[in-house]
Amino acid sequence: MQSLEKSPDFSRQVQSMFGAVAPKYDFLNGLLSAGRDRYWRKKAVNLLAPKSGGRYLDVATGTADIAIEMARRNPAELTVMGIDFSGPMLEMGKRKVRTNHLESSIFLQMGSGEHLPFADNSFHGVTCAFGIRNFSDAQAGLNEMFRVLKDKGKVIILEFSQPTNPVFGSMYSLYFNFLLPQVGRKISRHNSAYDYLPESVSKFPTRTDFQHLMESAGFTSVTFRDLTFGIVTLYLGCKNA
Ligand SMILES: C[S@@+](CC[C@H](N)C(=O)[O-])C[C@H]1O[C@@H](n2cnc3c(N)ncnc32)[C@H](O)[C@@H]1O
Repeated sequence: MQSLEKSPDFSRQVQSMFGAVAPKYDFLNGLLSAGRDRYWRKKAVNLLAPKSGGRYLDVATGTADIAIEMARRNPAELTVMGIDFSGPMLEMGKRKVRTNHLESSIFLQMGSGEHLPFADNSFHGVTCAFGIRNFSDAQAGLNEMFRVLKDKGKVIILEFSQPTNPVFGSMYSLYFNFLLPQVGRKISRHNSAYDYLPESVSKFPTRTDFQHLMESAGFTSVTFRDLTFGIVTLYLGCKNA
């Protein structure tokens, strides 16, 4: 990926990049986060607190880790729809859904986060983990999440952040901006996907700016909290609660 400017081509480039790294995506997630990625997703699902009989949507589901984490807690009674615009990422996700015997709870489909193919007010909760940073139009994505959420439903968004502690921040920056892209390049055999990761995080809105984007979409009681020294931030918003 040459540029991070959100050109008309941006979504197509992101889609093709995730398509290319899909086979190594889970392995690299675990390796590059030293296993913390699983903890972050568990925290997101804890905050969502999915209920029996509920219908949930995981936007930019990728290889379906959040959907699986949700469904594992209540496999018989929960429905989780996962949507993503990368076919190869979804294929990896479908394999994991089958391995975990969760086919009766999790349904994965192709689609764009900026144009969700669901009716208004159709989900009790919506999640999006490490997805919205890659949208060509984050505001449109948030507007769509708000539209498909039922009243009193919650949206949970997990996204990378810049650590606030300057000492930790400068050590982390060395890792995130220099070491991680090299390891990512070697293992994924993709030239730019793991350069794109720190670049896209550096261009993502600050916590409070993103909170304002969520509020502009209509979410109320929007809060956020940092995880793992502020490497990642967990955002919560409510609809008409
Ligand atoms: C970093 S991965 C995150 C996957 C998963 N949520 C996780 O926690 O591992 C980002 C995913 O977002 C998807 N994505 C990015 N932009 C999208 C968009 N506009 N619509 C749908 N999916 C999108 C990519 O295809 C990719 O699978």
